[in-house]
Amino acid sequence: MKIISSIDELRDQLRGQLRTAFVPTMGNLHEGHLSLMRLARKHGDPVVASIFVNRLQFGPNEDFDKYPRTFAADIEKLEKEGVYVLFAPTEKDLYPEPQEFRVQPPTDLGNTLEGEFRPGFFIGVTTVVLKLFSCVQPRVAVFGKKDYQQLMIIRNMARQFALPTDIIAAETYRADDGLALSSRNSYLSDAERTEAPLLYRELQSVAQAVKGGNLDISLLEKTSMDRLAARGWKPDYVSIRKRIDLQPPTAGDLAQKEPLVVLAAAKLGITRLIDNLEI
Ligand code: PAF
Repeated sequence: MKIISSIDELRDQLRGQLRTAFVPTMGNLHEGHLSLMRLARKHGDPVVASIFVNRLQFGPNEDFDKYPRTFAADIEKLEKEGVYVLFAPTEKDLYPEPQEFRVQPPTDLGNTLEGEFRPGFFIGVTTVVLKLFSCVQPRVAVFGKKDYQQLMIIRNMARQFALPTDIIAAETYRADDGLALSSRNSYLSDAERTEAPLLYRELQSVAQAVKGGNLDISLLEKTSMDRLAARGWKPDYVSIRKRIDLQPPTAGDLAQKEPLVVLAAAKLGITRLIDNLEI
């Protein structure tokens, strides 16, 4: 595997490649990331991964400084997956001057759910993803459904900017007890790790209720948040949305059986976990 940090060198290395499959990451790779690499391999060749902890997408009081960085272990894992190039730019490589041009996601999609609780997050994500796409020029790029809203925003960005990159969605990779794998799980204490699968169980119980015909959306959301809070969690949201645009369903949407997804974000101790489940 070639490990490249400069944009020019990356372009030289990938020149003429028409079927590149790209998996952008922030490192601290776990099985979930590796499943993205495997899916990428099915959709293109060569597979290119990136590791870059993108300061632009972290708020001032978020965990940029302590975000887990495990570069040596990550390299070993990517080598085993047969990744051809790892693009691992420094901040100076990717942002040699302050990044003044930014992507602005539409308000409806960008300022709700994660966008409401992490202002500027999706501006940072879309800006770096567009820039990484411009460096790698992939034919396809793979994103996990665990970050459901991120996936949808990137897919819409690719469509609206007519990017020559197909966005492929990968299913969420879960531990045996249901917890979605995430780099931030490493912040959990042992006791919190035992408690953490509750978030997924809550999503399952909300999804079950909706499927069973309970369409009192606000009550379902509130009851679920109350249950989390009663066990010491600090929920930001448990929210049932339309899959198509992540907006709240109207009575008409519910009557027409519009496909739904339930999304949740909650803090357990210092760790903020997010998850979702299509209904
Ligand atoms: O999902 C992530 O790891 C990041 O948001 C991404 C897409 C690599 C952009 O920094």
